[in-house]
Amino acid sequence: MASDGEVSPPTLHYWARKNGIALSHGVANGSSLADDAPAVAPDLPADDQHPLLERAREVLARTKKAVSIEFLADALDVSPKRAREAVDILRQDGFRIVDDSGAPGSIRLEKLPPATPTVTRLALAGDEVTVGIVSDTHLGSREEALPELLAVYEEFEARGIDTVLHAGDLTAGIGIYRGQQANGLAHGMGTYNAQVDYATEVYPQIDGIITYMIAGNHDIEGEAGRVGFDPVQAVCHRRKDIIYCGAYHGSLELPNGAHATMVHGRGGGGYAISYKPQRYVESLPPGRKPALLIFGHWHVSGFFRHRQVTCLLAGCFEWQTDLLVRLGLQPDVGAWIVTLRLGDDGSVVGIKPEWLGFYAGRKVEMPMAA
Ligand SMILES: [Fe+2]
Repeated sequence: MASDGEVSPPTLHYWARKNGIALSHGVANGSSLADDAPAVAPDLPADDQHPLLERAREVLARTKKAVSIEFLADALDVSPKRAREAVDILRQDGFRIVDDSGAPGSIRLEKLPPATPTVTRLALAGDEVTVGIVSDTHLGSREEALPELLAVYEEFEARGIDTVLHAGDLTAGIGIYRGQQANGLAHGMGTYNAQVDYATEVYPQIDGIITYMIAGNHDIEGEAGRVGFDPVQAVCHRRKDIIYCGAYHGSLELPNGAHATMVHGRGGGGYAISYKPQRYVESLPPGRKPALLIFGHWHVSGFFRHRQVTCLLAGCFEWQTDLLVRLGLQPDVGAWIVTLRLGDDGSVVGIKPEWLGFYAGRKVEMPMAA
């Protein structure tokens, strides 16, 4: 974990901006600060910053088609340079502002996440690799299992695991289901900005461990989805140890070229917990099947093979909620440690799973730790 009381660099930037304090160049670029921490625009007066960002976002949300920076600058009554800086900050903050391929130099606020899955190469080597797998942390939920999440990261560290995969729903989200605001969220977690701040602060951070993460429905639907905001991207911009791998799904390339794919599922789980994952495997075109499919969303754990694809249901870090009761799901709080033996031909020749589980009301401990 980051040392107690020390403000991590991305948090420092965010805190400064939130409080309208411009960091001096020396502080902003000090050696202890993250290289890609969100920049405080040098000529954007701090007092003026939030209203300008909000107005820029509103203009982009209002205009259905792509606009040029000059158009945005005119609409905001600022220079093109300041309009560009506002766009850069909004992007850093997790707003999905994309370059329009049909109109060079133009940008638009994309409400829907891109459909094309991204491929991220994992920073691993060798013919046997071990990864930690977590999902559905729902930070900001009243039922979040943060002590358990911290404990598994310590277990990962004790086992020498430097790669963790997170299958979506980092945050509790806002406006995802009826009654969430009143019954589902922890105190002070009623805005997506508060949840992003919180996740940035508390998500486990251990030297040498990188977490590869996708966004789930709780992250990018509801209120955030309506304004083209992706809280996972926002957290990834502030935390160098968390890598964004896509919305709803992301493919991860292993050292021998094989793929593990993370998917954040949809809807309820069905009578058999394997039903939806099976259907997903059956929908994959021939020749496009990953060696390992990791499913978030249903908050249950499972491990099985279907049509030569190893499927893993990732579990969660949130205790029973009203929503889960309604969906008829019992949460499985815990994480996986998975060792993959990689073949020379790009195949995965062996997969060994281990479940690290927790039980409601029991003391948080990791008996497997050496
Ligand atoms: Fe979830």
